[in-house]
Amino acid sequence: MKDIREWDKFLIPYEQAVEELKVKFKSLRKGFDDLGEYSPVEFVTGRVKKVSSILAKSRLLGLEYDEISEKMEDIAGIRIMCQLLGDIYHVVELLRERDGKDFTILYEKDYIRDKKESGYRSYHLVIKYPVHCAAGYREVLAEIQIRTLAMNFWAIIEHSLNYKFKDQVPERVQQRLQSAAASVWSLDLEMQELKEEIKSAQKLFKQNAMAVHSINSQLQLLSDIGENDLATRFQSRLDAILDFSSSESLEELYKQINEYLGEES
Ligand code: GTP
Ligand code: MG
Repeated sequence: MKDIREWDKFLIPYEQAVEELKVKFKSLRKGFDDLGEYSPVEFVTGRVKKVSSILAKSRLLGLEYDEISEKMEDIAGIRIMCQLLGDIYHVVELLRERDGKDFTILYEKDYIRDKKESGYRSYHLVIKYPVHCAAGYREVLAEIQIRTLAMNFWAIIEHSLNYKFKDQVPERVQQRLQSAAASVWSLDLEMQELKEEIKSAQKLFKQNAMAVHSINSQLQLLSDIGENDLATRFQSRLDAILDFSSSESLEELYKQINEYLGEES
């Protein structure tokens, strides 16, 4: 058996893969945020499987140490959480566009259309990901799970119950979990029905936040050029828009301050 230092070395490319993939998928979200658009990615998490779990799983699958890197697909694991059901398939499309460039998709499993017997739903992709680390070039397998916030809530709870009952979950609890999974599914379907309202509300929120940010930069600029009184006046109007839902729009205020700044420069 390998000692812990050898395991640490073995896991280096996996750790790097998880870090890189997290950055890449988080920046997918940032791309939508920067454009003031609704993002199909809500948040991203990642983890490297613990040595104890790798050992337990390889015992279960009857894998020799040398077979682990080729046969264990989830040593590097990434989860992408979405708000809406439809977002999952949008994210899958975005990942397929990277197939053959950033990584290679080995296979996909749609446990949303074909839920598991437990009630589990998620979309899985297993990829081969290239990493350049101190030890040289490696290709590691990684499992990407894409799910809604509601599916994630269910899966986390079901997983902890399995852990508590050591995979011997009592019938009564299993039935409850299945009925909870059905509620999660109907919640996801309901939310999907509201997709246009949800998307436009969130887009409005993001665009207003961007407008407030731009106006604050303009106010700073006015102060920097010594126009403190003007900056204070515009600040009050901004406060009025934000605090009292003034009918004046952020866009209008932005344009007016820009006119002053234009005259100054
Ligand atoms: P593994 O031996 O776990 O890799 O199973 P598999 O090769 O059949 O792969 P599968 O795609 O079914 O599951 C891989 C991963 O999906 C698991 O490690 C879990 O993270 C998750 N998963 C699958 N089924 C369930 C489930 O019933 N409940 C929960 N909570 N998670 C699940
Ligand atoms: Mg698997």
